[in-house]
Amino acid sequence: MSQTLKAVRGTRDLLPPETALWNRIEATARSVFARYNFGEIRTPVFEDTALFARGVGEETDIVSKEMYTWEDGERFDIDAMEDAWWRGDKQYETRLYGMRQDRYGVNAVRHLPGDSELLMFRSRLDEADVKQLEQAILAGKSNSQLYETGRDGDIRGRIVVASPFTRVAERERDGTIAIDYLTGNFTRSSQSLTLRPENTAGVVRAYIEHKLGETGQLQKLYYIGPQFRRERPQKGRYRQFYQIGAEVIGPPSSGSESPLRDAEVLEMLSTLLDELGIAGWTLELNSVGSAADRARYNEALRAALVPVLGQMCQDCQRRAVTNPLRVLDCKVPEDQPIIDTLPVIADSLDEASKAHFAAVTAALDAAGVPYTRNHRLVRGLDYYTRTTFEFTHGGLGAQNALLGGGRYDGLSEMLGGPRAPGIGFAMGEDRLVLTLLANEADGKSAPPQVVADAFIAPLGDTKDEASVARLNAAALSLARELRHTGLYIELGDASFRLKKSFEMAEKTARQIVILGEDELQSGILTVKDFVTGIQSKVPRAELAIFLAEPAKG
Ligand code: HAM
Repeated sequence: MSQTLKAVRGTRDLLPPETALWNRIEATARSVFARYNFGEIRTPVFEDTALFARGVGEETDIVSKEMYTWEDGERFDIDAMEDAWWRGDKQYETRLYGMRQDRYGVNAVRHLPGDSELLMFRSRLDEADVKQLEQAILAGKSNSQLYETGRDGDIRGRIVVASPFTRVAERERDGTIAIDYLTGNFTRSSQSLTLRPENTAGVVRAYIEHKLGETGQLQKLYYIGPQFRRERPQKGRYRQFYQIGAEVIGPPSSGSESPLRDAEVLEMLSTLLDELGIAGWTLELNSVGSAADRARYNEALRAALVPVLGQMCQDCQRRAVTNPLRVLDCKVPEDQPIIDTLPVIADSLDEASKAHFAAVTAALDAAGVPYTRNHRLVRGLDYYTRTTFEFTHGGLGAQNALLGGGRYDGLSEMLGGPRAPGIGFAMGEDRLVLTLLANEADGKSAPPQVVADAFIAPLGDTKDEASVARLNAAALSLARELRHTGLYIELGDASFRLKKSFEMAEKTARQIVILGEDELQSGILTVKDFVTGIQSKVPRAELAIFLAEPAKG
């Protein structure tokens, strides 16, 4: 027996009834985003690797260790070769027929004075192609209409071979087949691609590509979708995980740099978490300053690290040279007391950055959104400037960040775009689900019940195939009618016996509708309400209304 295949480590299947919770979360998020005037953006799940290297930063954990990257291999580009050949062959006026019959190996037919030529473009000379071409020539001779369209003359074949690609055989002429070697580079250039580890870089790429800044408007965009990081899987940490995120970005004239935007995003998040029923979150807030502030802070850190570096982990020793700020991301327990003695970024902020941060906190105070300052919150991605934040939740254990985000005023320029300050966040949907499931287990919120309004049970002689088919068809038509009125309907099967139909109905619906031969004749259906136990006879025309308002016991 062959080995059973399983979902790859760090990925998982999401199944009902849990997916109902996922849908509820996404519906709540969409509703909140709509109220704050955000529109949805969907970017591809894979992008040019350079986007993340430049956007997120080469030295970050994400880019240096966690990306799913592959070379989109080199391929022979037959179109480029054909173009090159035609360009170099202007001596005849040619007409082409029968293009691209690749299965037969014939790519084109052209008519020359006195004869016709079947053309084949290939990356290398292959005997099978030569044979196919010979057969095509024979077929063409016996069916002059096919290739000659009424002309007289010979049919010849020509194989055009890309010589630098692979020169397999030295054959200049083979009977009726001529062989041309064509020099040139006919490969489609390979590209390094990466499954997106996060969505901000992709959104900013799209902002630049579609010139969204030229509208002059602030762009408020949200996304919901999978992200991929090759991390060590554990509770709340997966290799394919889902983010619900949003970005506010625009030219400075649109107000994109204003601290009000930061405060509005944070206020929206507190509303979203409240509406999702997440109690007990903490908003941790910091400012990593402007690029100049960060450069100053990096120098201060580098100097402070010199005497202590020898006692720190290998990663910190490397980071101290390449990007000292990343030392603050270190999770190695022995390094923590050392990191606590390092200078804090707040002391390196210039007046403008300090004022920006003060305005953010003042607006949060006014809106009544609670937060705590965390000096070590520099976030694991390089694009951040000024405000950075995380919402954490105690119930999540080691992976306690429900969501993270911040301002990225220089990202657009880093990706070759215009100046476009922005701020955004991404929420780990998997972690939200874990938190909500834990709340349900604590009895803090009721589990979402998915129960159909009615189960339609076609019931007849299970051994009579014609009756089973007739009742099933009638049941489908009744279900269609009821579903169109907005009712949630589960459909049974006439091959089930009475007992089985009732057992299934009780598990999935509040009521059962019995559809037998009698009911089919009379148009009066039997409905049983499982909550009250009451059984009623209902005319088909009144059924939808009856099912929508179940009897009160
Ligand atoms: P991030 O902090 O890397 O930020 O990820 C945001 C959230 O995604 C985390 O707080 C966490 O809830 C979730 N998450 C990250 N990795 C995993 C994982 N392996 N398994 C499960 N959940 C995970 C960003 O991605 C930025 N793009 C956020 C942002 C948007 N900043 C500005 N705009």
